Amino acid sequence: MPVAIDKTSEPLYPRYLPHYDPLEKVEPVGAFQHDDPGHRADPAFPHLLEGATKVFELSPHCGTELQGVQLSKLSDEGLDELALLTAQRGCVVFRDQEYTNIGFDEQKRIASHFGPLHKHGWMPHPQDGPVEFVIVFDSKDDLRIRKSWAGKSPIQFHVDQSPEAQPPGLTFFCMLESPPGAGGDTIISNMNRAFERLSPSFRKRLEGLKATHTTANPIMREIRDNGDSAVLRRSITKSVHPVVTVHPVTGQKALFVNSSYTQSIVGWDEEESDYLLKFLFDHINRGHDFCCRVRYEPGTVVVWDQRITQHSQTLDYSAGDRRHAFRLTPLANVPIPSKVEEDDGECQQDEARVMLNLC
Ligand SMILES: [Fe+2]
Repeated sequence: MPVAIDKTSEPLYPRYLPHYDPLEKVEPVGAFQHDDPGHRADPAFPHLLEGATKVFELSPHCGTELQGVQLSKLSDEGLDELALLTAQRGCVVFRDQEYTNIGFDEQKRIASHFGPLHKHGWMPHPQDGPVEFVIVFDSKDDLRIRKSWAGKSPIQFHVDQSPEAQPPGLTFFCMLESPPGAGGDTIISNMNRAFERLSPSFRKRLEGLKATHTTANPIMREIRDNGDSAVLRRSITKSVHPVVTVHPVTGQKALFVNSSYTQSIVGWDEEESDYLLKFLFDHINRGHDFCCRVRYEPGTVVVWDQRITQHSQTLDYSAGDRRHAFRLTPLANVPIPSKVEEDDGECQQDEARVMLNLC
């Protein structure tokens, strides 16, 4: 049951309160060899599901909830299987997790199983905690999140930190305190399905394209909103990634452009690029049939695979209600471009789709 928070009460996790230091700098992780744990996983998930009391899908195309499993107790084999299940389902939800209370080092150790942890350029970390922790804290005492979304829709599907040369793979989002009642959910959308839903010949047009991803806009917003107290630990990050990528473990193709960071299609005129990206962002925003919505309780941990999903906050609870969470974000592989297959007859399916729709 969600804990009813008295707005005058003190935060339950003071060690995880956000720390903003405008003078702090961090070094990026740099290039590394990524060996995806999902390759080592037993596809029957014997270690992950041992002890599970309930396993169910949140929606047909995205999300599985596991009850009765403690993340903090999983063996290396269980964590490998979590990588595979998340790659297949987009996200996995755990409830009532002891993970919340095992401390910075152990929390980091478990997340690091999936790759070196990202260091964020502007989001806060705990004052006496590792820089790899991203703190999400919305309360009457800290309205930075509210301020950053003022005047625009908080619904913005994105991949966290896609401008990295090796963007994140699995991501851990751990809810410490959630608003009383409903609200503050995360919507997670399956980008394998977003790609499959496009017409075969349109999909082919997208394959082979590349797009530029940059942190320029979020950094400008940080400066606009916070002035001299803006946190700018890293300079602007920029990368070129394939528009359609392949997951290293499942081999499934995914749409890999997002409205927070993708700036332009490489080699296209601005008008052409803007037009295509707007269509793709609208396509993702409309995808209610390939997303799931995760409701939180204190102790909920959501693990999602950024290579095949995008997510959005909802920010639908009352301003001033306390929502306190942390994120750990392991980095993964250099995005793998899908291969453009020539003349395989797939485009003829366009005609068949039209016939089907007419029937
Ligand atoms: Fe995010």
